[in-house]
Amino acid sequence: MSAHKERWGTRVGLVLAMAGNAVGLGNFLRFPAQAVQNGGGAFIIPYLVSFLLMGIPLLWIEWAIGRHGGKYGYHHAPGMFDAMGKSKLLKYFGIFGLFNNLAIAAYYCYIESWTLSYVWHSISGAFSGKTAEQVSMFFSQYLDIGTGKFFNVAPEAFIFFLITLGLNLWILSRGLSRGVEMASRIGMPILILFGIFLAIRALTLHAGDQGAVYDSSVGMNFLWTPQFDSLSNPKVWLAAAGQIFFTLSLGMGSIHCYAAYLREKDDIALNAASAGWLNEFVEVLLGGSIIIPIAVAYLGLDWIKANVGFEMGFRTMPTLFQNWGPILAALAGVAWFGLLFFAGITSSLAMGQPVMAFLQDEFKTTRNRSVIIFGAVTFLLALPCVFLYEEGAFNEFDYWAGTFSLVVFALAESIIFSWVFGIDKGWEEINRGADIKIPRFFKFVIKYVTPLFLLAVFIGSTIKPADGEWTAALQSFFSGNGWPLAVDSVIGTIFNLGIADTRWFIDGIPSNVFVIDMTRILILFTFVGIGATIYYAWKRKRTVA
Ligand code: PHE
Repeated sequence: MSAHKERWGTRVGLVLAMAGNAVGLGNFLRFPAQAVQNGGGAFIIPYLVSFLLMGIPLLWIEWAIGRHGGKYGYHHAPGMFDAMGKSKLLKYFGIFGLFNNLAIAAYYCYIESWTLSYVWHSISGAFSGKTAEQVSMFFSQYLDIGTGKFFNVAPEAFIFFLITLGLNLWILSRGLSRGVEMASRIGMPILILFGIFLAIRALTLHAGDQGAVYDSSVGMNFLWTPQFDSLSNPKVWLAAAGQIFFTLSLGMGSIHCYAAYLREKDDIALNAASAGWLNEFVEVLLGGSIIIPIAVAYLGLDWIKANVGFEMGFRTMPTLFQNWGPILAALAGVAWFGLLFFAGITSSLAMGQPVMAFLQDEFKTTRNRSVIIFGAVTFLLALPCVFLYEEGAFNEFDYWAGTFSLVVFALAESIIFSWVFGIDKGWEEINRGADIKIPRFFKFVIKYVTPLFLLAVFIGSTIKPADGEWTAALQSFFSGNGWPLAVDSVIGTIFNLGIADTRWFIDGIPSNVFVIDMTRILILFTFVGIGATIYYAWKRKRTVA
C-alpha cells in the first residue's frame, strides 16, 4: 500500500545511522553534567545497570516494533502500534512517536546551531586572547541573555539556527540512503576521530603543564571511583535511567522508524546491540574523557560541581583550549564543536524522518513536501525556544518532551509489546533472522523487569519527594504528616510549586511564569493536534478503502 519504499543501503550504513541517531549532544554535554551532578562514581553503577536492564531490552523492543510495522508498510509509530493488536486505541500511543520528535527537534536544532557557529568562531579566532569572563560573556551575548529584559533578540543565533535547520532539511530531502545514511557514514568517523584527539589531550594534562592546576586524573578518579551507597538513592537512579533514555534515543519513535526500513528477515538482535554498545563506547569513553578531566584540570573539582551544565561546553571550553597555544586552541575548538555538530545533526535527522514517514505513508505526501512540513512545524515550535530561551520556554520543551514523555512512551510500548502483542510473538520477532543468540534470560527481563523498572521510574519522578529523601518522605506519610513533594517532581512542576510568585504579569510585563504556562499550552496543543491528525488519517483510510 505504501508508496514509499525506501531501504538502507548497507548493513554498515544502517548501524552507523542508528548509532548516529543515538550518539548526540547527549553523549558529550548531558552525560558529563548528569554524572557530575549525581556524584561522579556514584552515578556510574546505576547508569550501567539501567543500560543492561532497560536500555538494551528497549532497543530490541523498538527495533522489533519497527521492523514488524515496516512489514505492513508503516514507517511511523501510530501505524506500528495499530499493527500490534486489535484495539483501535493502540494507534494513539503513537502520538508520542511523532510528538517527541517534533518537540525535541525544536530545541535540539537550536543547540546544534550553536555548535556550528562556534566552529566558525573557533576558526576565525574569536576566542583567542579573551579572558574566561569574556568567553562566557560571548555566549550570553550570542543568545542575548542575562540582560534582564523580556525577549532575547539574538540575530546571529537566529541566522545560525536557520542555516542548521536548512541543512537538516536538505539532507532529509535527499532520501534515506543518500541523505541520512550518507551523513552518518561521513559524520560518525570524523566525530570519533575528533573525540579521540580531544580525549588524548585531556588525559595527558598534568599539573603545571600548559597552565593546568591539577592532573587530569583528578577528574577521572571522581568519575571512576564507584560509590556503592548511591545504589539505594532513587534520585541517582532516576537521573541514570533518564540519561539512558536520552542517549539511546529511546521512547522517541525514531529508532522504530529507522528499523521499519529493514527487510523482514534482516537481523535485529545483533544490529541493535551493536548500535547500543557503540553509543555507550562514545558516551562513556569519549564523552566521559573530555569535558570533565579538562575542566577539572584547570578549574578544580569544586568549581565543576558548582557550575556544571550543558552551557559549560560553550562558556568554558574555548577559554581552556587557549592554554594550549593559538594553533592547538583553534584545532581543539574545531574538533570540539565540530564533533558536537556531527553528533547533533545525525540525531536531529533522526527526529525528522519519523514525521516525514507519517506524512508519506498516510497522506501520500511527496518527500520534498513532507520535508517542508516538518521544517515549518519545527521552525514554529523553535521560535519560543530561540526568543524566550531565558524566560524558560526552552526548558519546558526539554522537560516535557525530552524527559517526561520519553518515559511515558517507553512504559507504554514495553507493556504493549509484552502484554498486548504478547511476549512469545515478541520474542520470536526479535529473534527472527538473528545473527546472535540472545540469552533466554532477556525474555524474562523484557516481560517483567523492563516494564517494572519503567513503572518505578515513572512513579518515582511523578511523586519524587523533597530533596529526593524517600525514607523521610515515607516516614512522614505513615505518621500522617503528608507527602513532602519535591518542587521538581512532575506534579510539583505542573503546579509551579518551586516558584514563589506565580503572577502572569508583574508591573505590566509578562513574567517567566506566563512564558512557562503559555509554552505548556503550546506543547499540549501540539500533542492534541497530532492526535487529531492520526484520527483523521484513519478515518480517511476507511473511506478510501
Ligand atoms: N540520543 C540523542 C543524544 O544523545 C538525542 C536524541 C533523542 C536523538 C531522540 C534522536 C531522538 O543527543
